[in-house]
Amino acid sequence: MKIGIVGCGGTMGRLLVKEVAAAEDCRLSGGSGRPGSPLIGRDVTEQAGLEPSGLIVTDDAGALFRDCDAVIDLSVAGAASHHAELAAAHGVALVHGTSGLDAAQQEAVEAAARHTAVVQSSSMSIGVNLMVELTEQTAAVLGEDYDIEIVELFHRNKVDAPSGTSLALGRAAAAGRGADLDALAVFQRDGEIGPRPAGAIGFAVLRGGDSPGEHTVIFAGAGERVEIAHKASSRSIYTQGAVAAARWAVGQPAGLYSMRDVLGLA
Ligand SMILES: NC(=O)c1ccc[n+]([C@@H]2O[C@H](COP(=O)([O-])OP(=O)(O)OC[C@H]3O[C@@H](n4cnc5c(N)ncnc54)[C@H](OP(=O)(O)O)[C@@H]3O)[C@@H](O)[C@H]2O)c1
Repeated sequence: MKIGIVGCGGTMGRLLVKEVAAAEDCRLSGGSGRPGSPLIGRDVTEQAGLEPSGLIVTDDAGALFRDCDAVIDLSVAGAASHHAELAAAHGVALVHGTSGLDAAQQEAVEAAARHTAVVQSSSMSIGVNLMVELTEQTAAVLGEDYDIEIVELFHRNKVDAPSGTSLALGRAAAAGRGADLDALAVFQRDGEIGPRPAGAIGFAVLRGGDSPGEHTVIFAGAGERVEIAHKASSRSIYTQGAVAAARWAVGQPAGLYSMRDVLGLA
């Protein structure tokens, strides 16, 4: 199976190059970078810290998609629409894990899923996806007497907030209560905020150091607190999951899938 990596020079992109290169059943078909980036023209595997492969980082993502069975996109939201359109045009399976997409970018990913298999997940980690399931179940069992707060800690370079995983946990918590997150989410608290609104789902965002991601969902009741936590210590949990998603997606009919589908949790 031929896999291409867009944004192959990023933190996740370089790890994905290593992951695909190490997978016996996969062949790295190339990598792309931002047009104008000094990375363009460099060797894809060498810039990731491996031996040179002869594959050259391209700024022509279209050329990459022409020669792949699947493409993994953990890059930037600004490139999501372009990559989704290319996946649809070339019938290439797309694994999309970039966070911070706006409505138009998300619509482009969903439009591509009408033409090819797209696995989209804010977290490719098995543990995080299990946590999302447990959050929905716990919210359903505990009900509205328990206040839900979602806390995340990420490395200092993360550019968007809250994380895609926090939002997925929030949506799962709301779904467990038969509600919509948009009606319940509280993203900011500052100054005279008054008492906590009944049923609110609060988000708290911490940034610092080099953590690849920690999330805790707190269910705070009267007399007890239930917490569900996941702490990543290596970014490889995301790249392993992304490659597993690519393996799964190739050959699937067109559609928008999640890691729940890949992991058989759906
Ligand atoms: N779903 C998951 O499991 C998961 C896990 C971890 C991270 N993520 C997400 O993955 C994304 C990337 O994270 P990161 O830490 O790797 O960020 P990063 O280090 O900033 O990498 C982003 C890469 O994309 C490149 N890029 C920018 N514009 C591009 C374009 N038009 N075409 C191709 N490449 C382009 C950047 O190049 P320049 O530096 O030259 O601009 C950079 O190399 C983030 O949205 C993050 O939240 C998802």
